[in-house]
Amino acid sequence: MTVQLPFDQAHPLDVAPLLRQLQQDGVVHQVRTAVGDQAWLVTGHEEVRRLLADDRLGRSHPDPDRAARLGQSVLFGGPMGNYDTEQADNARLRSLLQPHFSPRRMRALRPRVEELTAGLLHDLAVRGSPADLHRALALPLPIQVICELLGVPYADRDQFRAWSEAVGDSRDRARSEQGLGELFIYGQQLVARKRNQPGDDLISRLCADGLGDDEIAMLSMALLFAGHETTVVAIGLGALCLLANPGQQQALIDDPGRITTAVEEILRAPGRSGGGIPRYARTDMQIGEVTVHAGDLVLLDTRAANHDPAVFPSPGRFDIAREGPGHLSFGHGAHYCLGAPLARIELKAVFSQLLARFPAMRLAVPLEQLRMRSGSVTGGLAELPVEW
Ligand code: HEM
Repeated sequence: MTVQLPFDQAHPLDVAPLLRQLQQDGVVHQVRTAVGDQAWLVTGHEEVRRLLADDRLGRSHPDPDRAARLGQSVLFGGPMGNYDTEQADNARLRSLLQPHFSPRRMRALRPRVEELTAGLLHDLAVRGSPADLHRALALPLPIQVICELLGVPYADRDQFRAWSEAVGDSRDRARSEQGLGELFIYGQQLVARKRNQPGDDLISRLCADGLGDDEIAMLSMALLFAGHETTVVAIGLGALCLLANPGQQQALIDDPGRITTAVEEILRAPGRSGGGIPRYARTDMQIGEVTVHAGDLVLLDTRAANHDPAVFPSPGRFDIAREGPGHLSFGHGAHYCLGAPLARIELKAVFSQLLARFPAMRLAVPLEQLRMRSGSVTGGLAELPVEW
């Protein structure tokens, strides 16, 4: 039987019953994506982890126009990159960007992230209860942080946010392509400005590294997108996990030293399943019981992997003291998230300060009434009404 994606979730923290069923049945399943194409969905933690690091799977496809797709977005909706040079291109991208995410650079950024978080929480306190925590915190913080890191004017946020949202549109390919084009032109304009007036920021440092303008525009816009879309989602869903589990919220208030494991649990527990990271088989290969053919679409479902009962006992329980094997929310292997250290700094700043400052904060609507963002690659909440 072919399973149709996406799965129904009763609320944003729910794990679809169908996913639980599939996990009991095996680790790899034939599915039909939202756009009607055939794919293989991998749901076991061990297999997803192993396949993320397997170079027989890639992001590109030798015949991209005929490749099966997960959705319509140009990012993670279908094939990306050049089939012949994919691995070398990625190695170059990582070697250019990695130095800008070094532990030293991240340490230097932490106090500023904490300051920005405190500023947003101050504004929230001044405006008073009730509030939309998505608009007041989850959305602006990652945007402020990525603007400072890259040297992008915060005043331009409405503009580049609109283009990013268009890029992530999983239903309308033309809109997604248009958004990517706009973002690239914006990147080119920024690079031209930095060439004239360098600052103490990542785009200026890439200019000083001797790269061409278009490559810098491409790299910095990739960071602008990857650096805020995902973190907005993680802050919103992380706050929701705590607010929906008052016992765990209180445990973190009582023992702020648990913030490190709490952040890992916040990264593991929520999210959308029935999709995940798309890859294409570069050769025929065996996954579990099935033979996957060259060119087939393979979906490495990291949310399902993060809820594999064989690895995470009682996976549906949100437990800020959970230790043990790592989640796969930042991926694994050759494409492991370059921004993971920065994302962790942001999440630690948010959840340390939010609970200390608003210990009585609670959800203002029932969990089932919360609206999710639909039709977007990154998903997450559309709003998070709270009161205190
Ligand atoms: C909670 C927040 C974040 C999550 C959940 C997340 C998740 C991920 C995942 C799953 C991948 C791997 C994709 C794949 O295997 O194809 C990835 C890659 C990447 N992420 Fe993140 N990310 C987050 C934050 C950030 C931030 C803050 C930045 C930068 C400022 C960033 C930059 C990147 C880049 C450049 C890559 C591409 C690496 C490559 O292809 O080699 N991410 N991220």
